[in-house]
Amino acid sequence: MKHLLDIRQLSHHEITTLIQRALHFKHNPNYPRYSHATLANLFYENSTRTRVSFELAANHLGVHVVNLDLDRSSESKGEEIYDTINTLSAMGIQLFVIRHSTDGLPQALASRFDANVHIINAGDGQHEHPSQALLDIMTIIEQKHDITQLKIAIVGDLRHSRVANSLQHICATLGVGELVLVSPTVWQPQVVHYGRVTTSLDDGLSNVDVVICLRVQQERLHADEHLDTAGYRQDYAITKNRLALAKPDAMVMHPGPINRGIEIDSDVADGPQSSILRQVRNGVYMRMAIIESLDFG
Ligand code: CP
Repeated sequence: MKHLLDIRQLSHHEITTLIQRALHFKHNPNYPRYSHATLANLFYENSTRTRVSFELAANHLGVHVVNLDLDRSSESKGEEIYDTINTLSAMGIQLFVIRHSTDGLPQALASRFDANVHIINAGDGQHEHPSQALLDIMTIIEQKHDITQLKIAIVGDLRHSRVANSLQHICATLGVGELVLVSPTVWQPQVVHYGRVTTSLDDGLSNVDVVICLRVQQERLHADEHLDTAGYRQDYAITKNRLALAKPDAMVMHPGPINRGIEIDSDVADGPQSSILRQVRNGVYMRMAIIESLDFG
């Protein structure tokens, strides 16, 4: 593929091929080398997991990495992101991992470049975070195998979550058995791509196979969308008591960063059902598969 811009561009076959390749990398550390290629990390929003795992993934594949310090780049002098990419492309960089607060920016940029520029969306505004959804589904399939028989609950701020959007699309394409979107009314999604919406955490967690807890994104809330933290905790936090409603072998996931004591308790985040660090680890292998899948020659 030329770019990874969103989940909707991927067929069922393309998703399962990426997952199989990522699992292959996980179990076979004799990696291919693509030492003619260079990847630039352009992160206009903060990141720990995504930025570092793309860097590690590229390193594992022999791809050179440039981490742009955007505070010190020429964009601080007014250069547009299009010209920054064009300039780096002229230096021979082929792969651009972009995180930006503007919905749809990676798609808009991709349409302006020729075959030598390959863009990976590392999270655009409140739109999509495709590599996160791919690593999440990889982690679920690795542990639960047949995704069509599962009940999955996504809990939290569904209105502003690019992770939740990408997860809905990937669950739709793969035919997840039941997807339940749990949130207080004020954070319910304006558009539902897949699944059913409920305000009841008990409904969402009842007999669930996988619970995906979202971060409370204070920075994305409008003035009329703020919730009292104690009230949110009371009704929606994933606690040990609440988790008792789920199947005994239910997986607990979170894309990170986690707010301990707000959306999830430490004894759950660090407990035996938590797959949070497995998600992080799988992120490196999935990003290797994504990089390799781009036709950068
Ligand atoms: N999940 C995720 O995108 O984490 P970072 O913001 O640390 O990259």
